[in-house]
Amino acid sequence: MEEKIYKTMFLRRRFCKRVALVAVVFSLAYCLATLLLGDIRTPRVMSLTDLNRCPACYGISICPELYSSQIILDWQTLPSMFNAKNIFSGVTKSDRRVVLKKLAHNWELNEFDSKLCKEFNLKRNCKPIQLLNVTNFDEKIIKLVEYNLTWPDVEPRKGLVLCPYAYSVYDLLVPVLTKKKPAMDMINIWTMLSINPEPIIIQVIPKSSGWPVPAYAGVCGRLEVVAYEGESLSSLTHIPWHRKLRIAKKILDAAMDFTFKHDRFRFYLMDWSLDNIVANDKDEITFVDLEDFVVLDKHISPGKDLPDWYQRYGREALGPGFTFSIENMCKHHLSDHNLWAACYILAGDDNPFLYPIPKEVQTSRPHFDRLLNECLNGIDRFKTITTLQHLISDMLSDEKIVGRDAVANMIR
Ligand SMILES: Nc1ncnc2c1ncn2[C@@H]1O[C@H](COP(=O)(O)OP(=O)(O)OP(=O)(O)O)[C@@H](O)[C@H]1O
Ligand SMILES: [Mg+2]
Repeated sequence: MEEKIYKTMFLRRRFCKRVALVAVVFSLAYCLATLLLGDIRTPRVMSLTDLNRCPACYGISICPELYSSQIILDWQTLPSMFNAKNIFSGVTKSDRRVVLKKLAHNWELNEFDSKLCKEFNLKRNCKPIQLLNVTNFDEKIIKLVEYNLTWPDVEPRKGLVLCPYAYSVYDLLVPVLTKKKPAMDMINIWTMLSINPEPIIIQVIPKSSGWPVPAYAGVCGRLEVVAYEGESLSSLTHIPWHRKLRIAKKILDAAMDFTFKHDRFRFYLMDWSLDNIVANDKDEITFVDLEDFVVLDKHISPGKDLPDWYQRYGREALGPGFTFSIENMCKHHLSDHNLWAACYILAGDDNPFLYPIPKEVQTSRPHFDRLLNECLNGIDRFKTITTLQHLISDMLSDEKIVGRDAVANMIR
């Protein structure tokens, strides 16, 4: 009898042990899966959006596609998950590559969040949703893009500057404002201008109108989704020189477009670098880092504060490398900043994209090198760039430079 009781107890204890073991294994598996895959119920990409920070976010236009896994993170490029820049690789259901960008480092986003309540005189632990009761977003937006012409900043500025008068910002924003939810739109716009105006710029000068910017898919929370547009020029230093020349022509064209193409505004790009320009296998180029812009309204009536408005501003020798004066750009109706910057990345001191120029090109077109130098150091860059554009077009149809096949393809 005693033996039977003992056996039952032994079996019960063994059963309990097994149940406990299964529970432990299951919990461990769940924790591991959650750690690696995020919340199992929602697509992992959703955990990148910080949707809970809305309306202090960029918007929600592409959330349905992310939530329903029409766009997923690309496993093959998973290592980029751990990059400090917060840039992720993704792929659509139709197998198109996309880039998912949080548009700021985590510490920048945390800093922004920590100042949010104070900025609007709300309680210390306020919820972002309370921003819907705030009424002075119009003024706040103007303050963010304003550049004080009387007391210019000494420190270099980041983000979007709208000058000479910041009130033009509402005309700039027309393509971004949807009629349905203006209150929400204003908070989203204020947030983007505070963190990174890239989604605004991409919508104001869209790829669909021929601007060299990424195709815009949309935003969800604190995530922007754009098309993958190619490899950055800094990793394309090994390509044949004639391809570099083709890309160089497009860079010069883009510098002219940013300066002249829009019928109301000029877009002076402040962050020119080979990292920030990508090219695809057709040698089409795209500017992928659109955070820092000085946008100039061409159609203002200049006040007494702008006595030299109708004169052109030519970049002076301000020092080596990328030095520039936002103040001077804002005080003149036209500046050659983009043209100088384009020539600098092609032929300047810091890893010039077009150098070394092949010997046979130096011999057959000695004036090419001279023109590049004139673009960097000469006086009339507008004239020099136009001559350079013509010369490069001519070189691109010379089979001694680009090879017979390339010329035949061009004619075809
Ligand atoms: N649409 C795109 N297509 C292809 N590559 C892209 C795209 N957007 C970004 N990249 C790649 O990601 C890199 C970083 O993007 P971006 O310059 O916007 O981020 P960032 O954080 O501002 O970087 P940095 O601080 O170095 O300028 C780019 O240099 C480019 O190689
Ligand atoms: Mg960059």
